[in-house]
Amino acid sequence: MPIFNDLNLNNWKDSEIWTDSLWLIPERDKTGKHDGFYHGNFVPQIPRQLILRYTKKNDVIFDPFVGSGTTAYEAESLSRHFIGIDIQEALVEKLKSRVDNNKYFSEIILGDSAKELVYDKVNEILEKQKKKNINLAILHPPYADIIKFSDSKDDLSNVKSLKEFLDKFAEVLKNTIKILENGRYLAIIIGDKYSAGQWIPLSFYCMNEAQKLGLTLKSVIIKNMAGNRAKQNKEAIWRVAQNTLGFVTQ
Ligand SMILES: C[S@@+](CC[C@H](N)C(=O)[O-])C[C@H]1O[C@@H](n2cnc3c(N)ncnc32)[C@H](O)[C@@H]1O
Repeated sequence: MPIFNDLNLNNWKDSEIWTDSLWLIPERDKTGKHDGFYHGNFVPQIPRQLILRYTKKNDVIFDPFVGSGTTAYEAESLSRHFIGIDIQEALVEKLKSRVDNNKYFSEIILGDSAKELVYDKVNEILEKQKKKNINLAILHPPYADIIKFSDSKDDLSNVKSLKEFLDKFAEVLKNTIKILENGRYLAIIIGDKYSAGQWIPLSFYCMNEAQKLGLTLKSVIIKNMAGNRAKQNKEAIWRVAQNTLGFVTQ
């Protein structure tokens, strides 16, 4: 199995990599460009761990739900190239003005990542930069309709049913797999939802979509923001906040 990172495997225990399947994160990293303004963002520590573990310097990271750019900033600070897509124009414009596009390219595209057309732009960027593929995909979609991100009918948070959400998400997966280097990793970060007295395991449904497309499941990780509960003196109450699911292409 080839090694897809720059870690020294002889002393990986001294690295900052987390190898356990429960990530207890004391608090959000607010350093650098991370200002945490965006409702619905993830903590920078998640993309950081994935990038360090599954890529090397100069690799290309792809995020089809880039939002406020958490993945872009982590890619930048770890000397990786980046391509991101989001459906919200104002967000894309803001992010374009904040990323550093000099030594390592960081390209932000406006579009619907469930549609094939927008991937022509991704391929144009890859060709221009003399890169064959992307080397890691990080997917942090809306958690179905929990937070409404925009008024666009193509926004995954404006779905009318679970089936519609999963169909659209499967399209994003299909498009992403086409540009992902063979044998490389794709991670899905999503929370479950509770509605009408029922637990809806969005994370497992999304995992199922990835497996239907032939990806191999490598890991399921549960993340908990320990600090959020500690502040309320409720350390003992745990909630499954987000699942990070790692997949590889075949
Ligand atoms: C959970 S947020 C991602 C947040 C991001 N990880 C961050 O830290 O800021 C999901 C994002 O998906 C975007 N989105 C929803 N439907 C989309 C679609 N069809 N194509 C591209 N982006 C979409 C939303 O605008 C939102 O910014």
